[in-house]
Amino acid sequence: MKKLLAIFGLLLTVLLVAGCGTSETVETTEEVTADAVGDEAIVVYYSATGNTKKIADDIVAATDFPSFEITPEEPYTDEDLDYNNADSRISKEMAAEDLDVKLTQTTPDNWENYNTVFLGYPIWNNGPALPMEAFVVDNDFAGKTVIPFCTSGSSGIEESVNVLKEATVDATWEEGKRFAADATPEEVESWLAEIGY
Ligand SMILES: Cc1cc2nc3c(=O)[nH]c(=O)nc-3n(C[C@H](O)[C@H](O)[C@H](O)COP(=O)(O)O)c2cc1C
Repeated sequence: MKKLLAIFGLLLTVLLVAGCGTSETVETTEEVTADAVGDEAIVVYYSATGNTKKIADDIVAATDFPSFEITPEEPYTDEDLDYNNADSRISKEMAAEDLDVKLTQTTPDNWENYNTVFLGYPIWNNGPALPMEAFVVDNDFAGKTVIPFCTSGSSGIEESVNVLKEATVDATWEEGKRFAADATPEEVESWLAEIGY
């Protein structure tokens, strides 16, 4: 009988230890997942005519991440954006050697707290819209992961990402996504799910 009790006791101990082990593993996995996705993400975007803003709003609605809208000191009017007119503001700025776009606020509040930055912008002449280029040049991206998204008439995102990457040497860039101007919230949500958000 004593022997039986001893075996029962041993079995109970083994079961208890195994049980604890399992719950520890679960906790660790949860921590890793939370770190990988992170809640310290921000959606930073520029939008001249509202298309990119709509996508940014869809991301915010789906994730609850905070957002920061880049605003040039001098907003672009439709006339400014007329790339068919060689004398328009945009034609001159695109042709200029130096990027000269001033922003009303260069850096989002608590910028250092964010480890993941969704960066959204329209494509201008196959590249990023100039206010986004100004934002990237003027901020420190060391240690941050960047997830770019854009809207365009038809151009892909690749060339614009190459331009922005050059200004953020210490950042990790994830693959970006180009949306059509009329992309639906469902399209945005399925992209977010694809990349783990
Ligand atoms: C100055 C300018 C240049 C543009 N260049 C391109 C281009 O090279 N390729 C393209 O597919 N669309 C181009 N577009 C179209 C915009 O990328 C598209 O309308 C975008 O959705 C606008 O976004 P927004 O409403 O957020 O400003 C251009 C638009 C403007 C105003």
